[in-house]
Amino acid sequence: MVQVNGNYLKLKAGYLFPEIGRRVKAFSTAHPDAPLIRLGIGDVTEPLPQACRDAMKIAIDAMGTAEGFHGYGPEQGYAWLREAIATHDFQSRGCAISADEIFVSDGSKCDSSNILDILGEGNRIAVTDPVYPVYVDSNVMAGRTGQAGDEGRYAGLSYLPISADNGFTAEIPSEPVDLIYLCFPNNPTGAVATKKQLTAWVDYARKNGALILFDAAYEAFIQDPELPHSIYEIDGARDCAIEFRSFSKNAGFTGTRCAFTVVPKGLKGKAANAEDVELWGLWNRRQSTKFNGVSYIIQRGAEAVYSAAGQQEVKGLVSFYMENASIIRKQLSSAGLTVYGGEHAPYVWIKTPDGMDSWGFFDHLLNNANVVGTPGSGFGAAGEGYFRLSAFNSRANVDDAMARIQAL
Ligand code: MLT
Repeated sequence: MVQVNGNYLKLKAGYLFPEIGRRVKAFSTAHPDAPLIRLGIGDVTEPLPQACRDAMKIAIDAMGTAEGFHGYGPEQGYAWLREAIATHDFQSRGCAISADEIFVSDGSKCDSSNILDILGEGNRIAVTDPVYPVYVDSNVMAGRTGQAGDEGRYAGLSYLPISADNGFTAEIPSEPVDLIYLCFPNNPTGAVATKKQLTAWVDYARKNGALILFDAAYEAFIQDPELPHSIYEIDGARDCAIEFRSFSKNAGFTGTRCAFTVVPKGLKGKAANAEDVELWGLWNRRQSTKFNGVSYIIQRGAEAVYSAAGQQEVKGLVSFYMENASIIRKQLSSAGLTVYGGEHAPYVWIKTPDGMDSWGFFDHLLNNANVVGTPGSGFGAAGEGYFRLSAFNSRANVDDAMARIQAL
């Protein structure tokens, strides 16, 4: 009989968001008329920018002609999109990243999991707690952890607690680690890292031969011009970091799918025989074998993000969601709740009231306000007693949700 991947059997229950979906569906079935407002999963709600839609339409029409038809594209992405990304997102901020170090993909979630394909089994892995669950679960699936303990923490992973005490930016580990997942602006806490804090991580990684996997999917939401958008704004990061970026949250591509990963040339890991190996070559090999690229039409849409009109629209979208975040912060604070984040990120991280646990607060809001959020404990043991609300929704829904919570 065929055998299954036993690592999957180590996983705790469902992935967080499908689990929330299951509970919400059960609630809706029991209360079909309840006017639910979803501030749970960070999925965008505003329409795709006109500039992107126009570019996609032109690309569709081109696909209907013999001259403009595109079959398989380059697995790494079309050169014109990689050039636009390198110029606008990196070189404009003083980062020496070139177009051939950009790998266009269908999502940061996929890439942050797939990257494990090119990394060895023996790495000591550090994640923050709370953390975006994909980093942990993908390591479990790949057999890089032991079993989960009582608190849901997996043996073999180093957990770096983040809390109000350390400003929600993890402290440098006291034990040596080889692979570190960092996400700034942070999902789920909405915290942001300063240049000084990222410099400490880069220095640690270089000193210890560690690799930082830097998830910058929310960089567009940073409001303070002094804060770094990319790990490559830190000296030395080219030697120790891979960065993940996405068009999902800034330009509304959650449904159309386009993202990219930056693997600098010269970034190295060690082979079993202790020889240095370039990660760029391994990732290029991996993508060429297992990925067929993002569709031409979608890449043309992503390219339009960098047009003058596209930039203007993306700025508008980011401001719109950040205004939502500000409303959520303000309204919840005046309702007496303690809130964090939401100033440089589209997530507000809330201390649950009266010692309520995270799922208890989830049920309380669902049942009494018909508002869906995300329990902090779903992001890790240290998220217990916290709750996340997403700023991705219409203004009317955000206002309505806040009024209902105020009224509780
Ligand atoms: C979240 O809500 O944490 C995000 O939507 C997850 C994701 O982007 O995959």
